[in-house]
Amino acid sequence: FIDAVVFDLDGVITDTAHYHFLAWREMAREMNIEIDEVFNERLKGVSRMASLELILEEGNRQNDFTLHEKETMAEKKNQHYCQFLNHLTPQDILPGIVELISAIKSEGVPIGLASVSKNALTVLRALQLDNTFDYIVDASKVKKTKPDPEIFLTACNRLEADPERSIGIEDAAAGIDSIKASKMFAVGVGNTLYKSDYQVAATKGLKWENIKSEYQTWRNMQ
Ligand code: BG6
Ligand code: MG
Repeated sequence: FIDAVVFDLDGVITDTAHYHFLAWREMAREMNIEIDEVFNERLKGVSRMASLELILEEGNRQNDFTLHEKETMAEKKNQHYCQFLNHLTPQDILPGIVELISAIKSEGVPIGLASVSKNALTVLRALQLDNTFDYIVDASKVKKTKPDPEIFLTACNRLEADPERSIGIEDAAAGIDSIKASKMFAVGVGNTLYKSDYQVAATKGLKWENIKSEYQTWRNMQ
């Protein structure tokens, strides 16, 4: 009765969301812009260039740079970020994720990955999860960043899943909006994802039996 489960990557499968934050903070400081983790919630799930625009806006410097300069800044952030990725190993898969994936797979439910990151495949390879997902949608396959539904709809489409009978798992507000705009059941990992249909505080709380029963309750209300 569930067509597919589609996972976000950064912050759900592994804690790269924190590395994105550290890398942006370092780049922003070079521009004399200070960002904190509260502001960072707005960057989660948002593409690289769109994130840079939000940071420049935060520092009131949105009109100070040419496109070429912005590309150089984004590239610099990516270099900081990639240094963290060099140390990533399967040990960095967040608690509960391996168990969750195997529980879903044992029931023959296909799994997808939906990440707007250009580094998604590098991260998956470092975690040795590059052959785990039935279909991967990364930045190269979509035009629009989350919260647009394009990425989750593309994943469902390629998995031959009806979005209304599928589940998305996200740690970002933009990601939850993307899932809801796709009409899927939204599982949030965090404390402030008010629009999720079901929320757990951390990945270790992601239990397949609980997710299925919350999904069933939601379906019955549709
Ligand atoms: C998302 C992250 O998965 O990917 C964002 O949540 C990040 O924080 C975005 O900005 C783009 O990532 P990358 O690797 O292409 O810069
Ligand atoms: Mg995320």
